[in-house]
Amino acid sequence: MFDVNISKGYVDIPVPEGIDIVSEIEKLKREKNAVILAHYYQSGEIQDIADFVGDSLALAQWAAKTDASILVLCGVHFMGETAKIICPDKKVLIPDLNAGCSLADSCPADAFAEFVKQHPGYKVISYVNTSAAVKAHTDVVVTSSNARQIVESFPADEKIIFGPDKNLGNYINSVTGRDMLLWDGACHVHSQFSLEKIVELKKQYPDALVLAHPECKKDILLIADKVGSTAALLRFATQSDCKCFIVATESGILHEMKKNNPDKEFIPAPPNDSTCACNECNFMRLNTLKKLYNTLKYELPEIIVDKEIARKAIKPIQQMLDISASLGI
Ligand code: 13P
Ligand code: SF4
Repeated sequence: MFDVNISKGYVDIPVPEGIDIVSEIEKLKREKNAVILAHYYQSGEIQDIADFVGDSLALAQWAAKTDASILVLCGVHFMGETAKIICPDKKVLIPDLNAGCSLADSCPADAFAEFVKQHPGYKVISYVNTSAAVKAHTDVVVTSSNARQIVESFPADEKIIFGPDKNLGNYINSVTGRDMLLWDGACHVHSQFSLEKIVELKKQYPDALVLAHPECKKDILLIADKVGSTAALLRFATQSDCKCFIVATESGILHEMKKNNPDKEFIPAPPNDSTCACNECNFMRLNTLKKLYNTLKYELPEIIVDKEIARKAIKPIQQMLDISASLGI
């Protein structure tokens, strides 16, 4: 439709000076029957302009029910791929194609396929933070919102491969008593929270509750008052009578936490290295308001999934959506 260069992975055209970018984005959305779906780890300004903000399960569920013609997925690439696989006839856009995921990258499809081949008779459960090609070798996809329930929906003696996040896999093993075979992958953001620094913070804020995403290491999960997906942590903080929380997940979630709970205090858990902003996911933050504007304007870059991979990957994704619906998740 437009002859626009996206060799950098995004539309590299300056946004016209002096425009009101928020109202221009709103206008483009209306003109094109487009919706913006944003993950909780996006910047506050992107979350505020989105039609829907959610965790990775909710984004997939929303994609499955929207009747918009264009979906702009403000999140990372695997989230866009999942939306595209669910809605093959819609145009799915992402502001920056470079928005990958270190956890998904820790599980190359060829190596995972070989691992599965070496373990015949195992059911394969993959975390949604995987490429479509890995999902194509999977029986059922899970997110951190439904992993426990989906694992428990299998008979207790079922042999299961779980990939790629070993921290989430270990956590699910510990709460379900299963002994799933784990892929050795991890997220670079969640792996770097420091137990020592959280314990120090607890001395300063003795009444604070610790909220942790299950991608964190075991030592953090053991001292957490609540372990859950981004949506579960947000819900817990909102429903709790406690007024102060230490949050061990990507710091973007604090935007929605503060917005929903203006009377409560949220402290981002400190990373190991206090000189970096390592509790921000550098991939998530590649999406900016300017790139979002250009994405809507030029309808680029688009998420494309190989048809054969999509044909295989839709089965475990649909399985996840069906089980979640039947369990009311
Ligand atoms: P949620 O499924 O909790 O949104 O987490 C996604 C993710 O990428 C965590 O790092
Ligand atoms: Fe991937 Fe980690 Fe970023 Fe989540 S926070 S998108 S798991 S790199």
